[in-house]
Amino acid sequence: MFTILTGAQFGDEGKGKVVDLLAENYDIVVRFQGGDNAGHTVKVQDRTYKLHLIPSGVLFGKRLLIGPGVVCNPKVLWEEIESLRKEGLDVDIGIDPKTSIIMPYHIELDSLREKARSEKIGTTKRGIGYAYIDKVAREEVQMGDLTDPARLQAKLDEIGPAREKAIADMGGDSSLVRSAPDIDEYLRIGQALKDSLTDVSLEINHALDQDLMVLAEGAQGAFLDVIHGTQKFVTSSFTTAGSACANLGVGPVRVDNVVGVIKAYITRVGEGPMPTELKDATGEYMREKGGEYGTTTGRARRCGWFDAVLGKKSAFLNGYTELALTKLDVLTGLETIRICVAYDLDGQALTYPPEDTGAFARCRPVYLEMKGWTEDITGVKSYQELPAAARAYAEKIEELMDTEITAVSVGPGREQTVFTPQEE
Ligand code: GDP
Ligand code: IMO
Ligand code: MG
Repeated sequence: MFTILTGAQFGDEGKGKVVDLLAENYDIVVRFQGGDNAGHTVKVQDRTYKLHLIPSGVLFGKRLLIGPGVVCNPKVLWEEIESLRKEGLDVDIGIDPKTSIIMPYHIELDSLREKARSEKIGTTKRGIGYAYIDKVAREEVQMGDLTDPARLQAKLDEIGPAREKAIADMGGDSSLVRSAPDIDEYLRIGQALKDSLTDVSLEINHALDQDLMVLAEGAQGAFLDVIHGTQKFVTSSFTTAGSACANLGVGPVRVDNVVGVIKAYITRVGEGPMPTELKDATGEYMREKGGEYGTTTGRARRCGWFDAVLGKKSAFLNGYTELALTKLDVLTGLETIRICVAYDLDGQALTYPPEDTGAFARCRPVYLEMKGWTEDITGVKSYQELPAAARAYAEKIEELMDTEITAVSVGPGREQTVFTPQEE
């Protein structure tokens, strides 16, 4: 069985929690895009794990893979592996040798460019965009290069001068392109990971041939997709479900399920339009109650009402077969809950987002109001135990996204999840 899970909004929907939950029943969990711009939180009992590159199936000791569509900072990966192993966890990791490496110069270029932009994107400054630029320019360092000093040296001799010039032109320190301590550290990590290199496409296809369970873990969210997101305020990878097939080298007919993770409201980190953003006490309530501060950068996340106009687009972009609704508990205590069901664009009513980001930025939300609830739901053990108003809210989202919600998360813990009744 091959399941793809993606974020349906602007990232931070709770993918880490849902992947951890599902992982118990899977054999392999694989990351297929993005890099350590991702921050996936998994909370089990009193321990909280913040994962950036390691797939969130690690707590169940599953086979973990990093596919060649990921951009990997080896230092972050190695630190993550070591700290998880120190905790006594079995990190059975396989990395594709074609995985692009985020070099120190990518991070420098990302920071320099962001500083120079008059209109900021608010990147995580992890070098993501510049690593993807080099991938498509066919001038990248790959994981396999880190296992062979001569090969890495030859690569850097070939591509180094252009990067040095780019950094110097932006007023940065070009000596870090071929800085010996950094290169030595990358080579040390390459040696340490040499035996973990694997052909990820082959491993997954073989696993599926043997009827094993494979879960592809998306990073970021639909509207950060480099094509379908709110350009230019997006990340640099393809974040929607189809990307898993292309990036992992698995045919689309092998996909069985596509799970969308949606937050009961919406958040965004960094710049870019967000029609339902609340810059008032309700937005503040969501941020504080939901702990909406970035896992990777610590930045305060912008919060707003659930946007079903975006939700519908996300269902189209991903082809979701089911949804996991997270953070419903955060809305407890609000007298009225709003759902954006249409936009007003210069006096015209829209029920689907316009493609042009400028037009999208002018969209004003049209809301449907629903009754809130006051009961504490963080301890409920079944869907039926949820207050009627909370169920009505979930069912409205289901109707507007035309996709079934199968799981509702009512707290960060693994056990704080209820499943909707399924018809036989
Ligand atoms: P991801 O990037 O999609 O994996 O999401 P993050 O981990 O960046 O952000 C989600 C945050 O919400 C994390 O701190 C989770 O522990 C937390 N979380 C996940 N599900 C729930 C939930 O249902 N309720 C509450 N209160 N917190 C949750
Ligand atoms: P997870 O996987 C939320 C945002 C950044 C910025 C834009 C581009 O935890 O959901 P980048 O560094 O990727 O070039 O930044 O994308 N961004 C995220 N926002 N969650 C994420 O990942 C994100 N990864 C990138 O804030 O606006
Ligand atoms: Mg996150």
